[in-house]
Amino acid sequence: GAPVEVNVGKIEPGQLIRAEWRGKPVYVVRRTEKTVSELGNHEDQLRDPASQEPQQPAYAANPHRSIKPEFLVALGVCTHLGCAPTYHKGDFGEQVEGVSDGFFCPCHGSKFDMAGRVFQGVPAPLNLVVPEHSFIDDDTLLIG
Ligand code: FES
Repeated sequence: GAPVEVNVGKIEPGQLIRAEWRGKPVYVVRRTEKTVSELGNHEDQLRDPASQEPQQPAYAANPHRSIKPEFLVALGVCTHLGCAPTYHKGDFGEQVEGVSDGFFCPCHGSKFDMAGRVFQGVPAPLNLVVPEHSFIDDDTLLIG
C-alpha cells in the first residue's frame, strides 16, 4: 500500500484522530506534556515496558515509541484478536489506578498506555504496533 499523509497541525493536545493505512486503522494522538511526563510512572505494571518485542521501527525504540514525543502513531488494532481499543482521556483510572489516559479494548479488556504499551494481566500479548512513519514537515505525518 502507498504511504498515507496526515495533517497533524490542527490536532489539539490530547486529541486522537484516525487515519487508514493498508486497510487498517491508525491512531494519531497529540499527547499532552503531562501525558508524556507520566509515561515513566507505571512501567512496573507493563508487560514489556522497554518494548523489546519489535513492535515498532528502530527509530521508535524509545520511551515514547515515536519520532516526536508529542505524537503517538499506532495501529488501532488490539494485539489479542484485533478489535479497536477505545481511547480514554482523563478517565482511564477506572481501568488502571493512577493512570489518567490510555486505551481499553472492549472485546476482552486489554489495556494499553499512551505509548501503546500493554498492561499486565490482560489477554493481549504485545504492545500496539507502531507503523513506519516520518514527518515531511512539522504539520505533515507520513505513515508507511
Ligand atoms: Fe482486544 Fe481481545 S481483541 S482484548
